[in-house]
Amino acid sequence: MQSIRQLVLGISGGIAAYKAAELTRLFIKRGIAVQVVMTEAAQQFITPVTMQALSGKPVLHSMWDSSIANGMPHIELSRQAQLILVAPASADFIAKLAYGMADDLLSTLCLARDCPLVIAPAMNKQMWEHPATQRNIRQLAQDGVLILGPDCGEQACGEHGQGRMLEPEQIVEGLLQLADLNGNLLQGKRLLITAGPTQEAIDPVRVITNLSSGKMGYALAETATLLGAEVTLISGPTHIPTPQTHQLIQVNSADQMLAAVEQHIQGQDIFISVAAVADYKLAQASPQKIKKQDQELSLHLVPTTDILATIAARPDAPFCVGFAAETDDLLAYAEKKRRDKKLPLIVANQLADALGLDQTKVTLLDDQGQHDLPSASKHEVAQQILQHIAAMIS
Ligand code: CTP
Repeated sequence: MQSIRQLVLGISGGIAAYKAAELTRLFIKRGIAVQVVMTEAAQQFITPVTMQALSGKPVLHSMWDSSIANGMPHIELSRQAQLILVAPASADFIAKLAYGMADDLLSTLCLARDCPLVIAPAMNKQMWEHPATQRNIRQLAQDGVLILGPDCGEQACGEHGQGRMLEPEQIVEGLLQLADLNGNLLQGKRLLITAGPTQEAIDPVRVITNLSSGKMGYALAETATLLGAEVTLISGPTHIPTPQTHQLIQVNSADQMLAAVEQHIQGQDIFISVAAVADYKLAQASPQKIKKQDQELSLHLVPTTDILATIAARPDAPFCVGFAAETDDLLAYAEKKRRDKKLPLIVANQLADALGLDQTKVTLLDDQGQHDLPSASKHEVAQQILQHIAAMIS
């Protein structure tokens, strides 16, 4: 882990701003220097005097601070910072970040940065659940912003739900773990990921396929790339934008996916099999279009090869991760698949959460047992899965 020695703590306007005082104290106790930057609204909730006393440095809040030598505090600060943490990050500030706005010191600093940005959202549960906030959060996750929380619980407004900022201790712990995420958690690792559905030809115009969107596999490929891995993505046909990865190989059928995986598996450290591979294909696809007839039509299906099980059985198998989407008995079926296919880790999700949606809820199953991850965007879940994998292989 690259140790953090100094960070910028951005405070935006919200009741949870009072927790920034404790947060600063905890960082200082760990020997991490804190430069506090506050928005206008934040100063309505906690005073710069308090933050200055705790951080031991003048608090910055203005773009027009003449005490900064070159008159460009956003550039000056972004050069010095190893990391920017915005806690609390209000719904309004998250929206600003998502749109790349730069109309005060903190937002300008975030846009001008050359270091990781971590946010700890804090807001009322309706604001958190609002589609606009969820859209902005997804955008930030896609932009490589790391998101800690929010937590579920009692809120300042008296309601109960998701939106509460994590406790300062949780933020410090989470941040120290994430310190690795400045592009080097998976540095030097090679990852092969399969994603999307497969299509099994019936004739030249008809196929057997499934409803997998490819979103989870693509989110994993994108996030692993951000974390420094060299990612080869083998994808079935999808309708979503292709991610920036080292290599993208597009296939249609289960047989083509198997051939591509076998061709690229050598030298991989990790294989994540997210694809919804067809379990059956036609014994013989018709070379001509099948014409409509009056009688019933039967298709003769034969099993496809299980790609993941084949790779996991190799003597030189990389660290293999499976996915199990089920309609019922989720954990029992997932654990059975993990054992049958001899996998160190399987990601279990209810089918209703898996198909096409941007939000998902998964449980990780490994030799240590079961780890429930909170419901979150597929990019956030991807981050957590990759962190778990990195911890398992380190
Ligand atoms: N998988 C694979 N090749 C196949 C079928 C599945 O690599 N031909 C992988 C999937 O990518 C996933 C895991 O195996 O990581 C679980 O797949 P799933 O189809 O859910 O499990 P099956 O073993 O096929 O069982 P069932 O369809 O009965 O649920």
